[in-house]
Amino acid sequence: MKIAITGGAGFIASHIGDAYVSLGHEVFIIDNLSTGKLENIPSQATFIEMDVNDPALPELFMDEKFDIVNHHAAQMDVRVSVQDPSFDARINILGGLNVYESAFKSGVKKIIFASSGGTVYGDQEYFPADEHHPTKPISPYGIAKLSNEQYLYYYAHVHGLPFAAFRYANVYGPRQNPHGEAGVIAIFTQKLLRGEQPIINGDGLQTRDYVYVGDVVQANVLALQPQMIGAYNIGTAIETDVNTLFRHLRDLTGSQCEEQHAPAKQGEQLRSVLSHERIHAAFGWTPRMSLIEGLSKTVDSFKS
Ligand SMILES: NC(=O)c1ccc[n+]([C@@H]2O[C@H](COP(=O)([O-])OP(=O)(O)OC[C@H]3O[C@@H](n4cnc5c(N)ncnc54)[C@H](O)[C@@H]3O)[C@@H](O)[C@H]2O)c1
Repeated sequence: MKIAITGGAGFIASHIGDAYVSLGHEVFIIDNLSTGKLENIPSQATFIEMDVNDPALPELFMDEKFDIVNHHAAQMDVRVSVQDPSFDARINILGGLNVYESAFKSGVKKIIFASSGGTVYGDQEYFPADEHHPTKPISPYGIAKLSNEQYLYYYAHVHGLPFAAFRYANVYGPRQNPHGEAGVIAIFTQKLLRGEQPIINGDGLQTRDYVYVGDVVQANVLALQPQMIGAYNIGTAIETDVNTLFRHLRDLTGSQCEEQHAPAKQGEQLRSVLSHERIHAAFGWTPRMSLIEGLSKTVDSFKS
């Protein structure tokens, strides 16, 4: 199939690009390189340096007639979305709309979208959250992810363009950017390997659900099937607190650093964890990588 991947020079979608290429698909990467890197792009893929808001995007879609569009391009920093909600909405809502409008008008058969289970549910009322959990996002980033899902529902319902939206937990693994505010595993790993002191916000007892990028890729491969439609959580259903992560990474990097804490970040969610029962029951997806093994692979990749 001919597949366009937006954000394919970035962390998650570059791994998806590798998998699609190795399955024999014709892959096009659309990315403005704002956080992505050229070296992440699979050599067999065609790279188009373009912003998802570019007015030329509809013409590109018309010319290329993609079968599937996998939309991962986004500004993915929750704190940036809080500081500048309009900036976030321009990329994460209007950019998405430009992609979906171009897809629908050019006859794309399916959209796959990177949503966020860590943010669309807001403060969780029960643990782990399934897809029926109320969606009450408490950040502009989460609002944008949820509104993309709602636009996709509109395109499916009114225009017959089907979609699969993945509500990712906290994704980690090789190629994750260690410089931003997101991606605590990448940030801690880089610091520990450089002999710098990682700082834990608050008491470090806040929990997240850490899912390995290879498992996320498998879900995106399954989503090429036309039968996979709608929203699915992609998480492990296991909660890990930041102190535990720090200790694992300290052991794996051989660092001697002690835990060091700073005041908690205001408004930070205390617990987040996702059930993957829905995608498991329907398509057999399950997270295969244990946290320790995934952290070990991540540390090895950062070393090299
Ligand atoms: N990393 C996570 O834990 C996580 C969790 C939930 C959802 N997501 C979503 O997954 C997707 C990928 O995230 P990631 O962690 O790989 O981040 P990333 O920053 O590595 O990748 C994003 C890619 O999008 C590109 N991009 C950004 N703005 C663009 C624009 N306007 N036009 C074209 N390209 C643009 C960047 O250059 C980059 O290559 C994002 O949609 C993110 O919101 C990530």
